Amino acid sequence: MRARRLSLPATLWHLALALAFALLFAVVGSGLLRAQDRVQEPARRSAAELMDVLMWNREPVGGAFSLIDHTGKARSDADFRGQLMLVYFGFTYCPDICPTDLQEIARVVDLVDKDGDAIQPVFITLDPERDTSEHLAAYVPLFHPRLLGLSGSAAAIRQAADAYRVFYEKVATGGEDYTVDHSAFIYLMDRSGRYLGFFPPNTSAERMATIIRPHLPAR
Ligand code: NI
Repeated sequence: MRARRLSLPATLWHLALALAFALLFAVVGSGLLRAQDRVQEPARRSAAELMDVLMWNREPVGGAFSLIDHTGKARSDADFRGQLMLVYFGFTYCPDICPTDLQEIARVVDLVDKDGDAIQPVFITLDPERDTSEHLAAYVPLFHPRLLGLSGSAAAIRQAADAYRVFYEKVATGGEDYTVDHSAFIYLMDRSGRYLGFFPPNTSAERMATIIRPHLPAR
């Protein structure tokens, strides 16, 4: 009897102690992990949050960027004043959505502005590591002779993407390989560089043309 009376509280005490330590480690451990994440990269907004921003026009979209085009020339948003801009963010290794949207962007340019320069299509890479200017030079002309490919430092790309509320994230696919998850909206900017709106991924050239035409200068 005596042994039992003694052993029960002792077990409880040990259990309580073990629980307390587990809790302490969990709290301290998760705090450390979070601190580590912050050091590596600041917390990014989720794809859903950024989509919400765009859907309901909660924040201004677009703005200043300074990047390098596929011919090696420095480019900023101010270079395109006087033209409508169609801005698309993606990466050349994208297997699927990017090429499809870039084809439609190329088609809409021919539909509304075949021989003019009223509209400037712009492709900004979200994978500057692999999409150098040289690499873009071999890629963008496959879609349209007037499509401008823009790359730059990781920080310059992040700044441009943030301005357009673009979600993107490098995702490892095994070994050294990676892909880039990204939102794929097509942005329409007016002739003074102001944001008019976005087209969702997979919008047809014909649909875009209907919406773009009223914004073109009268001829
Ligand atoms: Ni893509």
